[in-house]
Amino acid sequence: MDTILGPMLISAEEIRQRVASLGEEITRDYQGKDLILVNVLRGGVVFLADLIREIKLPLAIDFMDISSYGISEGSSGVVRITKDLVDNIEGKDVLIVEDIIDTGLTLRYLLRNLKAREPATLEVCTLLDKSVRRIADIKIKYKGFDILDKYVVGYGLDFQQKYRNLPDIYVIKDEKFVDILDKI
Ligand code: IMP
Ligand code: MG
Repeated sequence: MDTILGPMLISAEEIRQRVASLGEEITRDYQGKDLILVNVLRGGVVFLADLIREIKLPLAIDFMDISSYGISEGSSGVVRITKDLVDNIEGKDVLIVEDIIDTGLTLRYLLRNLKAREPATLEVCTLLDKSVRRIADIKIKYKGFDILDKYVVGYGLDFQQKYRNLPDIYVIKDEKFVDILDKI
């Protein structure tokens, strides 16, 4: 199970502390608002579960699943909604909760799509940001950690659907595992 894992990048304790301060910020900013956290399946669920317990406000959660056309882990920016929200977000204060933003192409699509539903506000909270890889110019209001251009797993993030259950975040050891991502 652990053969592809390289060094630990962010420990469970570091994540816990960062998530707690993000929760405090969101609690401050969303006083009196009608907050709904929109989570993008599946990588964001672990982060969402911890984050909502650090937000001391009434809130709702809803889920979307999207898949990129073309390569399975990369991003083409051409996105299909495979599971839509259950709730109507018109007039609500929507906060998108993401595991990681890489090129930003997926998120750009999502922001456009949700904006058309006329929420009162629309912001983004991501645990990880690979900002050096950004293609789409998007505003991220809340960010856990900025990371370098490495493929990471754990705390919800997968490699071929595995490793999501690791409490800490690890870099994948061998770059050849990342190379095959372009071929699957
Ligand atoms: P973007 O459209 O390039 O920003 O794609 C972001 C999506 O790619 C994330 O939501 C993840 O599903 C996936 N992804 C990007 N980098 C990683 C990584 O290092 N580990 C696991 N998944 C990743
Ligand atoms: Mg994702």
